[in-house]
Amino acid sequence: MSETSSSKNDGDKPPGQRLKRFWRVAVLANIKDESQPKPEGVPPDAFADFDHIETVQSIQQAIETDGHETKFLMADENLPYALQEYKPDICFNIAEGLGGDAREAQVPALLEMLRIPYTGSRVLTNAIALDKTLTKRIWRDRKLPIAPFQEFSTGDEPLRPELKYPLFVKPAREGTGMGVDMNARVENETEMRERVKYVIQSYQQPALVEDFLPGREFTVGQLGRPDAKRFSRHHEWYDPDGFHRLPILELKTEKSATPGIYSHAAKAQQLGEKGAPEYICPADVEPELAKKLHHLALRGHLILSAIDVSRVDFRLDTDGNPRLIEINPLPGLTPGYSDLCLQAAAEGTRYEDLILEILYLAAGRWELLEPRDLPPMKKRRKK
Ligand SMILES: Nc1ncnc2c1ncn2[C@@H]1O[C@H](COP(=O)(O)OP(=O)(O)OP(=O)(O)O)[C@@H](O)[C@H]1O
Ligand SMILES: [Mg+2]
Repeated sequence: MSETSSSKNDGDKPPGQRLKRFWRVAVLANIKDESQPKPEGVPPDAFADFDHIETVQSIQQAIETDGHETKFLMADENLPYALQEYKPDICFNIAEGLGGDAREAQVPALLEMLRIPYTGSRVLTNAIALDKTLTKRIWRDRKLPIAPFQEFSTGDEPLRPELKYPLFVKPAREGTGMGVDMNARVENETEMRERVKYVIQSYQQPALVEDFLPGREFTVGQLGRPDAKRFSRHHEWYDPDGFHRLPILELKTEKSATPGIYSHAAKAQQLGEKGAPEYICPADVEPELAKKLHHLALRGHLILSAIDVSRVDFRLDTDGNPRLIEINPLPGLTPGYSDLCLQAAAEGTRYEDLILEILYLAAGRWELLEPRDLPPMKKRRKK
């Protein structure tokens, strides 16, 4: 895939806050190359989390509407050289990384080493969030509601008594529904052992076994941090705590390619296509449940030290209580398709504004922006 480069004029936003007239922004991504055969021995859904070049182009276009120069840099072994040559002011990072036990942290680690500013969460959060077992151990320690779970490294470990069938088996360190299909739900010991061994062998990583959560499924997106308003292009979006809660998205998967499961096969379908889930946003939920989901999503984000943007996935348990499944500090950003983009669209936020917001929040952290002076907070009257 060749690199694309483009620049635009200064855009129509007053660059008053920017310390430079425009930024050189490198968009970093791993791209799906469907023309190449997959290497031998990888599972059928390998590289499913990589992006299409069109997503990168959409991000570039969104950033250019604000007057910046952009360039796509492939997040592969040549990235260190490409960065040194392009010398970006900041990187917009959507790179999934190239393997190992914390691939989503590879690019942030490189950028930290080269001291180049970048969007979103830093190394530790990206590393831990990719590992669903570690994430759940941390959340459990802070008393967040999660399903009972156990990690299997060999497949021969005795099953802990608190886990009750049906169970759900998935690779501990994948995303985009990889390794999740109708056989992920297991009803008994034989099925569980078979699936665990399949996951360990095919995905070359531990298998995470959890209680099967039979209830409704939601995903909750959030933007911001306590000082977000000082750097945001839309300070009116943010609640007094500095966070913007996007509308809750419900995934209805009963009629999808994998009924009841938001799998890779279901996610791969375009909206409205046969086999795709129904995406309901804003979800039709009681205000109390909505409040709980937003509260838990933000707790999950903060406990893992996620920065500026994330999406937290939930399912309801047998009693109808939400349980956190996982957090995505690098949520998909394909316009009109990725969950976070659907959530933004549902509240009337333009794709360009979502992308620029992620960029500006990062720019504020890396001192590319002068913080905005905000009018003093109105004092609350005591009742
Ligand atoms: N314990 C569980 N009980 C029931 N279903 C589950 C459970 N864990 C996961 N699932 C189903 O599998 C899907 C994928 O799981 P999960 O969100 O952990 O993986 P992912 O591949 O990282 O997702 P993403 O695409 O959001 O990165 C969920 O959306 C849900 O439908
Ligand atoms: Mg998920």
